[in-house]
Amino acid sequence: MSSARGACNASHSARLAPAVRYPVLDSERLAPNARLSLRWADVDLAAVRANCARILEHLPKGTRLLAVVKAGGYGHGAVQVARAAIDGGATGLAVATLEEAHALGGLISARDILVMGGLTQAQAPDAAAGGWSIGVSSRELATALAGTGHEVSVHLKIDTGMGRFGSAPADAPDLARFIDQSPGLDLAGTWTHFASSESDDAMTKAQFARFTETVAALGVDPGMRHACNSMGAHNHPDFALDAVRCGIAIYGCEWPGTQPALALRSVVTHVKTVDAGDTVGYGAKWKATGTHRVATVAIGYADGVHRARSNRGDVIVRGRRAPLIGAVSMDAITLDVTDVPGVQTGDVATLIGADGDERITAEEVGEWSGTISYEVLTSIGPRVERRYSE
Ligand SMILES: Cc1ncc(COP(=O)(O)O)c(C=O)c1O
Repeated sequence: MSSARGACNASHSARLAPAVRYPVLDSERLAPNARLSLRWADVDLAAVRANCARILEHLPKGTRLLAVVKAGGYGHGAVQVARAAIDGGATGLAVATLEEAHALGGLISARDILVMGGLTQAQAPDAAAGGWSIGVSSRELATALAGTGHEVSVHLKIDTGMGRFGSAPADAPDLARFIDQSPGLDLAGTWTHFASSESDDAMTKAQFARFTETVAALGVDPGMRHACNSMGAHNHPDFALDAVRCGIAIYGCEWPGTQPALALRSVVTHVKTVDAGDTVGYGAKWKATGTHRVATVAIGYADGVHRARSNRGDVIVRGRRAPLIGAVSMDAITLDVTDVPGVQTGDVATLIGADGDERITAEEVGEWSGTISYEVLTSIGPRVERRYSE
């Protein structure tokens, strides 16, 4: 049900800064195809640059930053974000898949792109031919890479408690020696991944200790040592070792003081008045208790607004928060705009980001959706046009 919102403040809109106010769809100001595209993400590459610099300032001098740009740069656009991250001080990139590594071609030396995700032996020839650094957890993949006839940069992954990939610590010295002695392989790095760096300090400390003990026992040069993701680096700059792998913080989430790089926006396409007893949306999940103004906005679950948002949370219109009411449809959501004066077709609706004095963060949307900022950002669908500012 609609929550009662404060009374209209007539002076409110006059106080809004024009630079961040999106009152109505303005085809002069928006991209030329604004009349075609009614859902878009504004991506602020200056924020990505500033966030990288901020992360590096927090870490011991000389720590390398590998910017994690997998899943299309967490929904922001991998190539654009990678370029901005490099400008901001990152000296390496990290992705999950071979296709993602391929898409970054020409931005940085291939060796400085780490493929972190699981690979099969059948992918070894393509992985090796790309010239990228390859995360290796098993003797099988190391053997397949060694047999390709290419010189391959390998980062040996050690499982210190995450439990997905990685060599068991007890097996790591054998695997490290095998890589070191294979003519085609170069042990360029050794790494691990924290399971709960944002929430379980004791576990993070135990994983770090297991990692450093395992590295010390390898018996060969481990190459670049890296363990920290964003929250690992934030909470434990002393665990930075040679490099950190940061994703979410370069996009301005989770790390206090970073700048959110993405705003998700759409447009009101219909406004109407409903009376007591009227229902809105699939399943009639919202029923009016009195007279309300309802705005329909052109974005839905196919664009990344999770169905869990049905009757949950807010969207900003005309600089004010309006509750999302009813079920989320594939292509549309509905808002109770009773307390937002003057809403009309063409008004911009901000689902993530700022409009006037109001801001909705990806973290806040994550709470409404029963998920995390990462999934909110990576769920933003292909129909959402990405618009970049430098
Ligand atoms: C192995 C690995 N390292 C680093 C990261 C980056 O994590 P975060 O976005 O928390 O910085 C990820 C992301 O999931 C990852 O899978």
